Amino acid sequence: MQSRYSFLQEKKKKKWPYIISGIIAGILVATAVVWVGMNEWNIDKSIEELRDLTGVKQIVDVDKTEANVDKPVIEEPKQEIPIVEEPVVEEVDMSGAKGYIGNEVLPQEPTIVKGVLIASKKYPLPSTYAPGESKEARTAFQEMAAEAILSGYDLVAFSTYRSFDYQTQLYERYVTNDGQEAADRYSARPGYSEHQTGLAFDIGEQHFEQHFARESFGETEAGKWVAANAHKYGFIMRYPNGSEKITGYMYEPWHFRYIGKELAPQVFEANVTLEEFLNL
Ligand code: DAL
Ligand code: ZN
Repeated sequence: MQSRYSFLQEKKKKKWPYIISGIIAGILVATAVVWVGMNEWNIDKSIEELRDLTGVKQIVDVDKTEANVDKPVIEEPKQEIPIVEEPVVEEVDMSGAKGYIGNEVLPQEPTIVKGVLIASKKYPLPSTYAPGESKEARTAFQEMAAEAILSGYDLVAFSTYRSFDYQTQLYERYVTNDGQEAADRYSARPGYSEHQTGLAFDIGEQHFEQHFARESFGETEAGKWVAANAHKYGFIMRYPNGSEKITGYMYEPWHFRYIGKELAPQVFEANVTLEEFLNL
């Protein structure tokens, strides 16, 4: 039988873990209070100081980093990936280049030439023109992507339809960053973008975001595949290399325009820009 003494000893032993935990908790609370006090009673500052002290860095929400500002779009959640048509701008003699003309008043009606809806520096769209992404172009893109995957290229359209307002935001940001002269070489002013037609698809390869909206896409195997095959699905590369004076834009091996399966092979075979093909 247990004696009263040993029973009391046993009881005392059981209390110790609680006492020690209480002391540790008390020390931690006191330390926290002193720490916050040392940081002007500012909780955020205290946490920040603690991170600095421990070397534990804040986990950054990648979608909110500067590089991704553009991403799923400021106002258009449909856009899955950032639209960063901001290449390295090199000096080019643009004398004689086709640029913006007239007093830049947008028209009431879009321009259609030989059945092709035009959006260029010369032929802008009404600001109210807002058809959304073309279903026909999307289907054609899906057909092309299904074919490309058989060759090992997982294509993605990272920017398609862009509203007048969204293009305004993009263009203004580029002007702020690079100045208007440079921005005009790679970004359309609002009302002048093919993306507003719903027929322009910026194409890249899944998991190779480093080539999105970059000239380097043209050097990738996937980029070469698209350049060589897009016309079969109704797309043409709209701003080919060396055509800036004609199209008004720098080389964009990622920007494809849907003009239909009948016309696209003709433009491809002729090896000319849409401006030259349609005599715009
Ligand atoms: N990057 C093309 C020209 C656009 O902004 O529509
Ligand atoms: Zn584009």
